Amino acid sequence: MSFQQEIIKWYKINKRSLPWRDTTDAYVIWLSEIILQQTRVEQGLPYFNKFLENFPTVSDFANASEVQVLKLWQGLGYYSRGRNMLFTAKQVMDEHSGVFPVRYEQLVKLKGVGDYTAAAISSFSNNEAKAVLDGNVFRVLARYFGIAEPINSTQGKKTFTALAQSLIEGQEPSIYNQAIMEFGALQCKPKSPACQICPLQLGCYALQHQKVEVLPVKLKT
Ligand code: ADE
Ligand code: SF4
Repeated sequence: MSFQQEIIKWYKINKRSLPWRDTTDAYVIWLSEIILQQTRVEQGLPYFNKFLENFPTVSDFANASEVQVLKLWQGLGYYSRGRNMLFTAKQVMDEHSGVFPVRYEQLVKLKGVGDYTAAAISSFSNNEAKAVLDGNVFRVLARYFGIAEPINSTQGKKTFTALAQSLIEGQEPSIYNQAIMEFGALQCKPKSPACQICPLQLGCYALQHQKVEVLPVKLKT
């Protein structure tokens, strides 16, 4: 079985049930991804539910006041995310007639939406074959394929982006992207992953060469 097939098979058995996985609504996915940017899933979940209750659509969000948004945001930290979201919601009303965009090229033009978030929204909502690259994905790829280039160097980013993009070709983008992130979050963890029960152990460069604890490489900045 290929790397991708193993990851998808593992995901179907081990995935957590998370509310933003049951929708293709780009607005709802955007909400979840912004909240989860610097926040753990368990901490973000109640905020996601609260925001969706208060603002069921992007139009409801756009009509909110900054005070209202920041009050709901209280406790999450990085308050610029909350302020940016209000700006983005208004941008969607003005520039997209209130229809949240689903294409990567449109999404990266929104405030607060970078490569990762645009790839996540376009793949989950529109099944666009754009590979997500977050900390989880960097770790899985660096270890399995034995890539020692720093994940925060210009060359490293190019290498990982090209590899990640080549792997998603021919896969179901929404499933594959969710699967590799979840695999990194639950199985190929940063510290002492359970390699003895990992379905990728035979093909894993890091495990076979005792490099699990040193990959991925990150330069001190
Ligand atoms: N962290 C960021 N995005 C996520 C997602 N879609 N599912 C689980 N964890 C995440
Ligand atoms: Fe990660 Fe270990 Fe599995 Fe390799 S064998 S992919 S290091 S969990």
